[in-house]
Amino acid sequence: MSKTPKLMVGNWKMHGSLSANAAFVAGLTAGVSGFACRAALCVPAVYLAQMQALLAATPVALGAQDLSAHDVGAYTGEVSAQMLRDFSVRYAIVGHSERRQYHGETDAQVATKAQRALAAGITPIVCVGESLAEREAGLTESVVKRQLAAVIHANGHCISEIVVAYEPVWAIGTGLTATPEQAQQVHAVLRAQLRAASAHAPRMPILYGGSMNASNVASLLDQADVDGGLVGGASLKGPDFLSMLAVAAR
Ligand code: PGA
Repeated sequence: MSKTPKLMVGNWKMHGSLSANAAFVAGLTAGVSGFACRAALCVPAVYLAQMQALLAATPVALGAQDLSAHDVGAYTGEVSAQMLRDFSVRYAIVGHSERRQYHGETDAQVATKAQRALAAGITPIVCVGESLAEREAGLTESVVKRQLAAVIHANGHCISEIVVAYEPVWAIGTGLTATPEQAQQVHAVLRAQLRAASAHAPRMPILYGGSMNASNVASLLDQADVDGGLVGGASLKGPDFLSMLAVAAR
């Protein structure tokens, strides 16, 4: 078990509606009193105002799923870190594999996004992870190290304020989960890389993501370097997410 409370982050992706969100938070509020883990929900940008109000009375922090690599200006459709800050956004996912894959985000853009978030006082959740082909070619370590190195390089000593999420692409939304041993192996590599960059590495959260659910959360969180989870599908079901928070709070 690691020293700091576990951090459990829900990633709703492109799901939700005004009515469904309200019902979800009502259920969550009934169940979360006094749990001893840290929790956040990363919601679609259009629901930030609603969720800011709904989560204000709960211990659950508000998160975004992305942010612009630009500060301000003529960037149609983009949302800046400062705008997120206006809605008390505490975390922002950057470099999710769906952004890298469907929107062509590069390591350099992800590093700049992390920089924008940090400058606005938002904690970037930096996602790294290999594809199935990369794993099978024995490239897992080199891929995740390359992805994290870009963020470390661009952010210097501020790196101690980031959260890292190891999300093997082949495990996302597929029902295939990395075994606890596979997760730990990569998390240890990432921890060593953070240690070389920051004296704060031991307390920096490294989350696992990829088909994490109520049945496998305990064995994953039991690993020495797994400090929490980034949860997609299972964070959309209130009772499942709540039971995962309970496991994280053990
Ligand atoms: P999943 O998604 O839990 O549905 O696999 C995780 C993520 O993409 O963050």
